[in-house]
Amino acid sequence: MRAVLGVGGGIAAYKAAELVRALQQRGHDVQVVMTRAAQEFIQPLTFAALTGRKVVTSLWAAPDSQDILSSAVEHIAVAQENDVLIVAPATADLLAKFAQGLADDFLTTLYLAFTGRVVLAPAMNTAMWEHPATQSNLDVLRGRGCSIVDPDEGWLACGTIGAGRLPDPVRIADRVDSLERRKRDFEGETLLITAGPTQESLDPVRYISNRSSGKMGYALAEAAARRGARVVLISGPVNLPPPANVERISVRTAQEMRAAVLEQLQDASIVIKAAAVADYYLANAPQQKLKKTAARLSLELDPTPDILAEVGQRKGDRLLIGFAAETENLLEEARRKMKAKKCDMLVANLVNRDGLGFESDRNEVDIISHSGHVVHAGPAEKETIAERILDQVATLRLSLHAT
Ligand code: CTP
Repeated sequence: MRAVLGVGGGIAAYKAAELVRALQQRGHDVQVVMTRAAQEFIQPLTFAALTGRKVVTSLWAAPDSQDILSSAVEHIAVAQENDVLIVAPATADLLAKFAQGLADDFLTTLYLAFTGRVVLAPAMNTAMWEHPATQSNLDVLRGRGCSIVDPDEGWLACGTIGAGRLPDPVRIADRVDSLERRKRDFEGETLLITAGPTQESLDPVRYISNRSSGKMGYALAEAAARRGARVVLISGPVNLPPPANVERISVRTAQEMRAAVLEQLQDASIVIKAAAVADYYLANAPQQKLKKTAARLSLELDPTPDILAEVGQRKGDRLLIGFAAETENLLEEARRKMKAKKCDMLVANLVNRDGLGFESDRNEVDIISHSGHVVHAGPAEKETIAERILDQVATLRLSLHAT
């Protein structure tokens, strides 16, 4: 792929040189653009030597340049020539400018003119990263389809430990590769995807829920939309912005999720049930708050409807993909659920490991197809896992159509 790498002005700018190498080793052709602040940290010469190409450092031609007209439209040419724009380190200032559409230098102008895929690798001090302004800029950018590689945690240049380190160049290059692998192979399909937890009320202020963040289902929805599908995402309560080009329907309880799924099922050709649906709920939950007394409290819970099993009963020729969250006997349990719920494929993961699965940006899964074949994916970011799952769905679809 032809990649343009925008280097922002942060202490991590020197690591962008390693990123250039990582991208080149994977066969990408890299051109570098630097902001003025980036040049305070590292010389354009470093990147020129690594890429063998002129490094763009300004919107304006040098005062002695004869080529004033071509420099005036260079951002358009660079935008058109490249398939992916990577910004690393993406500083808080750059994220704010991108979110607002400010275009006061070459990189910000290029971002506006760029119609290909954008990968942003932020790096900054932890407080700046966690600041609501930065987080809301990231939400805006995610909503526009930018792919954000979240920073690593560790020692920062300011002497503190926390989130904000530039992601490992290998992780950034992995993300670029996962975009490249992507084709528009889901064009013409309608995917119905469920994501997140459900909340089952105990009274007007309390509920039963689980630790699902919704990130896996949202990553699947985003990837499927990029691969050309129409995507309907039925989401339990999560703290995530709606992915670009996805129709999101928000629900709260298992009953609401069931109703939304059944209503949308008609149009769907592929159903992916990534939601962590609560298994029990309190029927006839009191309308008033449960009052504390000295006595022990027992609640009798009823099972919620198993939405996946119900879709399995009436799936017709749709492809049905379930998930299984397990803490032990992963494959055995997954195979049992797959059969019981009539799934064509099941994505199984262990959820009791630190840094993977629930509440995490990363995951490691076994993808089991109806023939019993198992493909292992990860550990990797959920975006990468989502692409691998869709690759397997595409393969399954092909094999079913061939038989
Ligand atoms: N599922 C569902 N409706 C439910 C419970 C689960 O549609 N009421 C779906 C989930 O979306 C997932 C799959 O069933 O795709 C498996 O969910 P999981 O919680 O792993 O399995 P359960 O069947 O609930 O079994 P258990 O909790 O006993 O492991």
